[in-house]
Order: sequence, then structure tokens, then C-alpha cells
Amino acid sequence: MFYEPKKNNHGLPYNPFKSCVIPRPIGWISTLSPEGVPNLAPFSQFQNLTFDPPYVMFSSNYTMDAKRKDSVVNAESTGEFVWNMATYDLREAVNISASFFPPEVDEFEEAGLEKLASNFVKPWRVKGSPVHFECKYHSTLRLPGNGPMGTVDVVIGEVIGVHIDDNYITDEGKIDVLKARPIARIGYLDYTSIESIFTMKVPEDRIFSGGMEGRPETNVAKRA
Ligand SMILES: Cc1cc2nc3c(=O)[nH]c(=O)nc-3n(C[C@H](O)[C@H](O)[C@H](O)COP(=O)(O)O)c2cc1C
Repeated sequence: MFYEPKKNNHGLPYNPFKSCVIPRPIGWISTLSPEGVPNLAPFSQFQNLTFDPPYVMFSSNYTMDAKRKDSVVNAESTGEFVWNMATYDLREAVNISASFFPPEVDEFEEAGLEKLASNFVKPWRVKGSPVHFECKYHSTLRLPGNGPMGTVDVVIGEVIGVHIDDNYITDEGKIDVLKARPIARIGYLDYTSIESIFTMKVPEDRIFSGGMEGRPETNVAKRA
């Protein structure tokens, strides 16, 4: 089949677009309102962008009344946000934190989550999440779209601090991904979680594979 997104002429009962680029990791983004109220929301349009220095982005569509979402307002006005790894064990809290709450509501409390203080930024970290990034707001790329929700804010932040729970580091010194079991969106109302891993190495390429693996002789780790 072939369809044009502009015409939405796929003929299927559900729009397939969000089920094509998958799995999408979840940017579970914690911010503080300018008044200091904790805010938390998941964004599956999320990625890391680069590693030296590391930058991440989350992409937030406008609300139904064509306004920026609270996470964007907060990140832009305070200059900070925290990314929390969303895991299978925390899936219900992730879901609750997607509900619409007014900015004066503490979404950690609504989701039944405990807070951990950050080292460099003010937004809280989710207790129980095995990995957190403390981020300094860099910029917003605003893309025009159709309808009130079409406009999207791609919020970019520099990662200035990384927390990894020691209980999720293997004897080999790697993040224990199978233990953490991060969840990801696969479109519709469906999710997946990481339950298997396979390994590959680029043939005959020491430096590139070293960079991919994060070995010390690559420039990022050497400086650290
Ligand atoms: C798993 C999941 C992924 C989501 N991904 C996005 C996304 O990528 N972009 C977006 O605008 N909203 C996304 N949402 C909806 C937001 O989480 C929701 O609008 C939330 O209320 C925004 O909170 P805020 O207004 O406090 O920023 C997602 C919801 C769920 C459950």
C-alpha cells in the first residue's frame, strides 16, 4: 500500500504513522513550574541527539486549545528539565502522568511517586527509575502543523548530569538493561519493553566499534 500523510488516504481503521518508527523510547520529563510546582509527563517523541556533549530532545505537540504544554513552558521558563527512564515496573505511573493536570498540581503526587533531589538542577527525579539525566535547556525548534495540536515544540537540552542506580550496573560494568526493562511506544495503545538483546560488531573496524561500545580509548571517555 501507499498513502500520502497530507491526504490520510491509508484506508486502514487506525492511522499507521505512529506505528512505523518504533520502538520509541519514552522521555519521561520532569520540570518545575516558575512557581515551583513539580510537573511530570511522558513524551514518546524523544531521543538523544549526540554524545559530546550529550543532548536530548523531547517533542511536544500543542494542546487542544493550541497552547504549549506545561513541560515546554516550564523547561523554557526555568531553563531546566530531568529525563527519567520509564520502566515496566513504573508503567502505570507513566500513564497517570500523561493525564491533563493543571499547572498547580504536583504530578508526582498524582502518580504516587516519590521524589529524589537532583545535583545541578531543581526539577525532581523519579524515585525507582534507574537512570536520570539532569538537563540544561538549550533551545526550542517550533515546527508548524495542522489544527490546534499540529504545532510542535522540539525542546532540546544538554545533559549535564547522569545518575545510574548502582543496582542496575552489571559485573561487566554495563547498564543492566534487561533488569531495568525500559518501556517504549509502538503506536496505537501498544508498548513494548526490552526483554532480549543481541550483539553485533562492525566488521574490521576497531575505532568505530569502540565508539559505539563506549570503550575508554574513544575521545569522549578519554577526556572524562
Ligand atoms: C506513552 C505516552 C507518550 C506520549 N508522547 C507524547 C509526545 O511525544 N508528544 C506529546 O505532545 N504528547 C505526548 N503524550 C501526551 C502527554 O504526555 C500529555 O499531553 C501530558 O499531559 C503533557 O503534560 P504537560 O502538560 O504537563 O507537559 C504522550 C502520552 C503517553 C501516555
